[in-house]
Amino acid sequence: MKVLIVDNVSDVAAQIVNAAGIEAVVMKTPSSDELCELIKDFDGIIVRNSTKMTKEVLDCAKNLKIIARAGVGVDNIDVVSATEKGVWVVNSPNGNTEATAEHTIGMLLALARKIPQAYESVNAGKFERSKFLGCELCGKTLAVIGFGKIGSRVAEIAKVLGMEILVYDPFADKAKVEALGYKKYDTVEELLPLCDCLTVHVPKNKDTVDLIKEDNIYNMKKGALIVNCARGGIINECALAKALADGYIAGAAIDVFVDEPNITECPLYKASENLIMVPHLGASTIEAQVKVAKDVAEQAVEVLQGGKPKTPVNKI
Ligand code: MLT
Repeated sequence: MKVLIVDNVSDVAAQIVNAAGIEAVVMKTPSSDELCELIKDFDGIIVRNSTKMTKEVLDCAKNLKIIARAGVGVDNIDVVSATEKGVWVVNSPNGNTEATAEHTIGMLLALARKIPQAYESVNAGKFERSKFLGCELCGKTLAVIGFGKIGSRVAEIAKVLGMEILVYDPFADKAKVEALGYKKYDTVEELLPLCDCLTVHVPKNKDTVDLIKEDNIYNMKKGALIVNCARGGIINECALAKALADGYIAGAAIDVFVDEPNITECPLYKASENLIMVPHLGASTIEAQVKVAKDVAEQAVEVLQGGKPKTPVNKI
């Protein structure tokens, strides 16, 4: 049996697969055409999110039994087609929680204190102290949209910084949210006018694409800060570019994009000096990459040895 490992998943995955007597083949991210050809020979595949497991790719698979996503989001996998073909889809629901939460707070602090812009200025040989007047997060309101593992950890850290936490998540228990000292809102329309800063932590699906549209952005306080370390398109990119360009939104820190990795095609590209963009780094810590690789490689081995996965996304 053979497992294909792509997208720079940690070496730990190959070690676990090989140790179980299953051959691990490690490759760079393949194109869709390459993957259609390659997948025929494999019983399992371990991916991050650069490799797209589409219906076309799944139609080419002959022996595939498991798609293991080294991370949380499965928006790069056609889970319906996989299920129809009897292929397990598994993920690592916890492995990168801390990494992404810390990254979100880092982005928010960098935004509030204009750290990347100041770094660029110093790098250009300047010493412009008065140009980079920032703002404090302590005492400000933070809207957390999506109160799952990552959203709730972000809220916990932000609370320690002295922020007031406002939550929107139709699936979160109001009593539990309020017991933590936060306020829960039933609609984004109620929440947005109250927030100084906004961060989103929802998966990308048909209900969350464009969750924050132009009218929602202009419904926020003028001068608010926006962070997206979840998925590109949850906050509409064109609308955000417009609100940054006309100064309604004071700054945004964006980790994720609709069309990754084609960043120069993104409506946000160079949209404003007050925009920080980084290349989808939320889960990119040494610790998180080891955790997610271990989580999913163990499940791949389990399934290929005839067992059931620990954290499946579908039912076979
Ligand atoms: C996730 O959904 O877990 C992240 O996007 C992980 C990744 O960067 O692969």
